Amino acid sequence: MKGIIFNVAEATVSQEFGEDTWDDLLDEAGLEGSYTALGDYPVEQLLAIVTAASEKLSLPPEDVVRFIGRRGFAILIAKYPDMAVGHQSARSFVLALNEVIHPEVRKLYPGSDVPTFEYRASDEAVLEIEYVSNRQLCYFAEGLIMGCADHFDESIELSQPVCQHHGARSCVLRLQWIPNV
Ligand code: HEM
Repeated sequence: MKGIIFNVAEATVSQEFGEDTWDDLLDEAGLEGSYTALGDYPVEQLLAIVTAASEKLSLPPEDVVRFIGRRGFAILIAKYPDMAVGHQSARSFVLALNEVIHPEVRKLYPGSDVPTFEYRASDEAVLEIEYVSNRQLCYFAEGLIMGCADHFDESIELSQPVCQHHGARSCVLRLQWIPNV
C-alpha cells in the first residue's frame, strides 16, 4: 500500500485526536511509522494501526477505516485540486475513477495498485458500484465516497447489500442521493 495512504491516515488521526494519539497507535501496533508518500508498505501495517485505533477509541474497525477515508478525501483533493476540475457532482467524480482519477494516481505514484469499479446506474438518484479487490478495503471506498459527497455538498445514503467481509466474492456499494433541503 502506498505511503500516501498512511500519510493520510496520520493526518486524519492527528487532526481529530492529536499527534500523540498517532504515536500511541504506532506503538500499540509495534510499528516504526516513517512512511514516505511514494514508498510501498504491507497493507497489514495499515490494518494493525486500524486495530489499535479501534481498541483505543472503542470504535468498530470498519468505522475507523470509513473515518480515514471520509476525512482523507478532503486531504487528497486539497493536495491534488486539479483532479476535481470539470466535476460538478460526486456522481461525475465517482464515475471518473477508472478512466481518469486512478490512472492519474498511477502516474503520480508509480506502481500503485488501485482498484477498478463496475457501475450500474438504475436512476439518477441511485448508483451501484461493484468493488473487487483482494485487499478488501470496501469500507475505505465507502469513506472516500462520503468524503467526495461532502466535497460537493451532497448527501448520500450508502449501503453495502453485498460485501466481501460477509463472504461474497465482491462488494456492491449502493449510493442513494438524498435531496438537500
Ligand atoms: C470517491 C473517490 C475514491 C474512491 C472510492 C477510491 C477508492 C480506493 C480504494 C478502495 C483503494 C484501496 C486499494 C484497493 O482497494 O485495492 C484506493 C487506493 C488508492 N487511491 Fe483511491 N479512491 C478514490 C479517490 C482517490 C483520489 C482522489 C486519490 C488522489 C490521490 C486516490 C488515490 C489513491 C491511492 C494513492 C491509492 C493507493 C494505491 C496503492 O496503495 O498502491 N484515490 N482507492
